Amino acid sequence: LKNFPFFEHLNEQELEDIAAVITTKVYNKGVNLFWENEVGNELFIIQSGAVKIFRHQEGREIILALFRQGDFFGEMVLFGDEKVRSASANTLEKTTVYILKKEHFLQLLNKNPNIFIKILNTALERLRQANEQIANLSMTSAYARIARLLVRLTQSPEADRVLGLKLTHHQMADMTATARETVTKVLSDMQSKGYIRIVNRQIHITDLEGLMTAAGLE
Ligand code: CMP
Repeated sequence: LKNFPFFEHLNEQELEDIAAVITTKVYNKGVNLFWENEVGNELFIIQSGAVKIFRHQEGREIILALFRQGDFFGEMVLFGDEKVRSASANTLEKTTVYILKKEHFLQLLNKNPNIFIKILNTALERLRQANEQIANLSMTSAYARIARLLVRLTQSPEADRVLGLKLTHHQMADMTATARETVTKVLSDMQSKGYIRIVNRQIHITDLEGLMTAAGLE
């Protein structure tokens, strides 16, 4: 457990206490962990694999976030007055999660303010990203939004893995509020301009600067 950033501030005793109450669960690819508006009592930490967080809107999926090894989610329902999940979670590949029940989570927070700060930091960073996404959706073209998505996935250190997940055009459309056909057209244009190269459905960024210009980011 202590190799996971979520637990890095715990001492040996606290780690032992947590290990005694935490459970693990393995999900196959494409399985829902929970649904939006469902009552929830658990926090999830990804031991291995990847998870998408999404909502249904007018019959289509809006992907809010992708989480990977070491990331946690499902904390929102454990704080405050809302009793139901703010979004759904579904595995993008075979995934193993640690599950921490609300009562143990709250005990841990009480005893260890560092964890509290860590969760707050992460939540604020996610809010920042959400603001970014709102601005993107209202201001930029679909072309720029798709370029921004690729830049964002490339910049974070483990992002190669996410690109390595071989996101479908459909999933990329769900992350950029556009149509699948548009993603297909834009990617093919980006490839012809030399920004990216698609090999075996995997996207390689070959001209990050060009891509950033297309994203309106430099
Ligand atoms: P919870 O509401 O319990 O269940 C859904 C989870 O998805 C939520 O907790 C957060 O952990 C995560 N989540 C919801 N909205 C966002 C967002 N905009 N960005 C990143 N993560 C989110």
